Amino acid sequence: MQHSNNSTVVYPGTFDPITRGHEDIINRASKIFNKVIIAIAAVSTGKQFSFAIDRRVELAKNALAGNPAVEVVAFEGLLVDFIASRETNLILRGLRAVSDFEHEFQLANMNRKLSPDLETIFLTPSEQFTYISSSLVKEIARLGGNVEQFVSMDIANALASLR
Ligand code: COA
Repeated sequence: MQHSNNSTVVYPGTFDPITRGHEDIINRASKIFNKVIIAIAAVSTGKQFSFAIDRRVELAKNALAGNPAVEVVAFEGLLVDFIASRETNLILRGLRAVSDFEHEFQLANMNRKLSPDLETIFLTPSEQFTYISSSLVKEIARLGGNVEQFVSMDIANALASLR
């Protein structure tokens, strides 16, 4: 498929770890944008991470290795400051269900308040991924369930080794 323009989009999140739902959004975005920067937040208020930031970056890089349009980086501090350091004003977020909307609406508007030129673009994942979250996947893995349909094999192994 031809790219409709030359733009870059930043897909921010905590990715603890990246799931097939995130990958689905990223694959869709890479058909629209030339470059998709996966920006992994090193810290996030109220979240206890299972994987350290370097490991989250490594796991995402491995999961996305087949997609040349993707770059994976860690960031600290405000998302708007990270975006200002890259040649784009576009943020990508996934919307899985109506319940995501309120939080996403707040984030998008707050980011625009902080940096008026920013635009947030939303994509929806394939229906089979609408109920995935990193926390649920981690809980299933912790309790010995099979998570290979939700995350890459590499990540399923990494989750198993946390048990
Ligand atoms: N497939 C599967 N899971 C998905 C998903 C998809 N397509 N889209 C979202 N999720 C899940 C995530 O796995 C995560 O699950 P978890 O809570 O169980 O870990 C949850 O939905 C949402 O998390 P995430 O996408 O990481 O977003 P977040 O709301 O935790 O983080 C940041 C949002 C990191 C982008 C935001 O906090 C940020 O920008 N931080 C930087 C500091 C900043 O600028 N703050 C001011 C913001 S106005």
